[in-house]
Amino acid sequence: MITRILSKSADETYSIGEKIGNRLTGKEVIYLVGDLGAGKTLFTQGIATSLGIDPHEVVSPTFTLVNEYMGGKNIRLMHIDLYRLGPSIPGRLPEIDDFIGDGIICIEWAQYLEQSYFDISPSITVTFSLSGDNDDYRNININAIPAIEIK
Ligand SMILES: Nc1ncnc2c1ncn2[C@@H]1O[C@H](COP(=O)(O)OP(=O)(O)OP(=O)(O)O)[C@@H](O)[C@H]1O
Ligand SMILES: [Mg+2]
Repeated sequence: MITRILSKSADETYSIGEKIGNRLTGKEVIYLVGDLGAGKTLFTQGIATSLGIDPHEVVSPTFTLVNEYMGGKNIRLMHIDLYRLGPSIPGRLPEIDDFIGDGIICIEWAQYLEQSYFDISPSITVTFSLSGDNDDYRNININAIPAIEIK
């Protein structure tokens, strides 16, 4: 089931991340799909907050592929940004595979991953796209496997 939400501000996207973060078990892979400035990092900052991690510490890992955080909830957050690797990454990445099932993995530019990644469970695919109406609007589609209560 796909949940569709219209976010009307950066704060709202952050809050949606936080709300979903509160529903996580601690083993999810979260695929963040969307272009530059779509809101992927903001959403990850919301997830971080839900785990007791200072969201200001969470910045896109541009020079490293992965940033690792641990907060008050004792759940590790791996934050991965694939932008630098470019589209159509062939094969699997140890930076992801080595951590599956042990903490939450947020992956920006997940559209660059090969298809086999999207069969992993539990996982949540979050797709961000601009909404034509307003520069601050984002359509956010959420597909969780297994399903989670979002609203
Ligand atoms: N509804 C909204 N949701 C998310 N961000 C918004 C929204 N409206 C405006 N913005 C702005 O869009 C930008 C989103 O930045 P963010 O770093 O989260 O994007 P990103 O998808 O991670 O981009 P990148 O691919 O460069 O890493 C911020 O500057 C934010 O203030
Ligand atoms: Mg980002």
